[in-house]
Amino acid sequence: MKVYEIKQYVTKYTIGQPFATEAVMQEGKPIQKKQIDYFQVEEKEELCLKYKMDSEDIVWGLGENQRGMNKRGGVYESYCSDDPNHTPDKKSLYGAHNFFIMDGEVGFGVFIDYPGKVTFDVGFTHKDILEITIGTTDVDIYIIKGENAREITREFLAILGEGYAPPKWAFGYQQSRWSYRDAQEVEKVAEDLLYNRIPCDSIYLDIDYMEDYKDFTISKENFPNFRDFVNRMKQKGFRLIPIIDAGVKIEEGYDVYEEGIANNYFCLDKKGKPFVAAVWPGKVHFPDFLNPEARKWFGLKYKDLINDGIEGFWNDMNEPAIFYTEEGLKEAIETAETSKNKNLDIHSFFHLMDSFRGISNSLKDYQSFYHRVEGELVNHHELHNLYGYNMTRAAAEGFEEIDPNKRFLLFSRASYIGMHRYGGIWTGDNHSWWQHLLLNIKMMPSLNMCGFLYSGADTGGFSGEVNQQLMIRWTQFSIFTPLFRNHSAMGTRRQEPFAFDGETIEVLRSTIELRYKLIPYIYSEYMKALLKKDVYFQPLAFQYPDERSRRVEDQLLVGETLMIAPLYEENAIGRYVWLPEEMLLWGVHKNHEGNYRVMEKGDHYLEVALEETPIFIRKNKMLVLGKTGLNVEALDHRELQMIAFVDTKASYIYYDDDGKTKEFRNGNYTEIIVEIEKVGEIFKIKAENRGNRTVEKLHVEVIDTRGNRRKQTIDVIHD
Ligand code: GLC
Repeated sequence: MKVYEIKQYVTKYTIGQPFATEAVMQEGKPIQKKQIDYFQVEEKEELCLKYKMDSEDIVWGLGENQRGMNKRGGVYESYCSDDPNHTPDKKSLYGAHNFFIMDGEVGFGVFIDYPGKVTFDVGFTHKDILEITIGTTDVDIYIIKGENAREITREFLAILGEGYAPPKWAFGYQQSRWSYRDAQEVEKVAEDLLYNRIPCDSIYLDIDYMEDYKDFTISKENFPNFRDFVNRMKQKGFRLIPIIDAGVKIEEGYDVYEEGIANNYFCLDKKGKPFVAAVWPGKVHFPDFLNPEARKWFGLKYKDLINDGIEGFWNDMNEPAIFYTEEGLKEAIETAETSKNKNLDIHSFFHLMDSFRGISNSLKDYQSFYHRVEGELVNHHELHNLYGYNMTRAAAEGFEEIDPNKRFLLFSRASYIGMHRYGGIWTGDNHSWWQHLLLNIKMMPSLNMCGFLYSGADTGGFSGEVNQQLMIRWTQFSIFTPLFRNHSAMGTRRQEPFAFDGETIEVLRSTIELRYKLIPYIYSEYMKALLKKDVYFQPLAFQYPDERSRRVEDQLLVGETLMIAPLYEENAIGRYVWLPEEMLLWGVHKNHEGNYRVMEKGDHYLEVALEETPIFIRKNKMLVLGKTGLNVEALDHRELQMIAFVDTKASYIYYDDDGKTKEFRNGNYTEIIVEIEKVGEIFKIKAENRGNRTVEKLHVEVIDTRGNRRKQTIDVIHD
């Protein structure tokens, strides 16, 4: 074992000869150490780490996963899985995020940097034992120390490098469905949104925009004059976001296939031939994204669509998803043949069923293909979790070459730690279930701890049928997630906001309008978190270490000012809320009337009408707001509004930039420092602008702890 000090609080233990995942961006200096801190290690064919937990310890993290924010009580497997049924018994979802924090008397963070399968048994088999089983003996393990869970998270994020900055319009509402089949249908969606005055920034093109599901093609029949269409839609205020899938259709004459074959860019089977699997188009090859040349080639394939005016993409099926392979199908058919005309008993009947059920995404298939890494063949199974990561990296690196200073929208389904440098993630195929709204709420801080700030779920649920109130309640939560997209599966009830009754449309419209009002705050908090390598969503425990707050899983801190307590139960007309300190409730109704209420620390039952979004403003903090508009570019932020809940003194740094380029990395951004101080019976307010000049006036409303409201308009001082 070799040990390195990465920085003061981060130690890296290298065991054997691990694969360089490039998750961590910092090198360390060698130090002397014989044992991994905190853990008892057993090394056989696999490596097993054990830790005895204290009964009060909380385990945060593990990114995209099932169950609670506190991961105790479950078993989690890091193995990117295309499994659309996220029932609580599932151990893997689409991402593999091997970072967690042990938060108790003894506190530390752990990142297991191994891209094959890793199992975390967090007090399931033995209630106080954390057991990590790593499917190899070649691994890098990072132990991160820090004063508390938030600091440990920050220490960890600091070694991962710069996160991904989406364009500002990607913070608008996004409308999707599998699929809007042709230009007329897309245009109709745009018209319905406009007619109903529902703000929206983009409309998605799911797999049917392509010709026979071939990547980087456009169905000429359904989308004739694609470039004109893209630009016409942009003039109406909508960007089109096409999907790109991992598998490349096997078809003579199809350029992507031909070039991939000619240059050996595809993954190989054990005989050294391009590996064949079946996905949407039938048989495909998988580009070998672990090979830098193949990555470059695939990344530059996005260029034609970019030349047509496309500014954002979603990368899908990149676990990679496999519907079947010839081998797998053959075995299942043989079982069926031998079962023919037989009197099947329970065992043989189940065997028959399982042979078909297990055909998709089978371990055997993942073990049967190879990547070429520095001239050597490496089995996919050992690198499985790096596939989606490197597909998204291919795209991001392509964009960098095609248009280096431009920010593109990009997110992926599969991911691994470090992928947040290239794009965001969405949480895959959820259901229109209340349980999945709650799962979405609990998952967001865990994703943030692993670096994924630009993320969100399919609002309203992908599979299944959504009803009006679930659509409303989910939208009321999603207005806080940086990626805010309504997406649904083929054959399900239509769930665009305009697909409902008039009253529901009105509530959805005003909720989405509220999102647009919140954009100055959301963008400011997102970008500050990105630049400081910090989180945007936090569990209450990260700010309030008292025992009660540490256990709250259905309320979140959003940025530095807000706490939210979403409604996630059917037919609920209210909910219990725990306030870890005195806060100001801003209950926003559909007419956007603010219902301010100073609420004391403690438990409260809060009535929340279906049309209402409750927002809490923390003490001595401020919320910056703008006016709403039909899309992000239509927003006028020369004058902003602030709601401040102040006892004695408060300050806020409002961040903004051009939202389009990477110039902010060169210091080209705006910062307005707002300070409020109580002097005698009056509040003194000062707003000073540093950097680019964008805001002229602030309309500030100060609410004090007795509930008194004072309004003041102040000019921003420019230096
Ligand atoms: C996958 C994606 C889903 C998409 C569908 C069709 O299931 O997760 O979002 O709509 O494929 O492309």
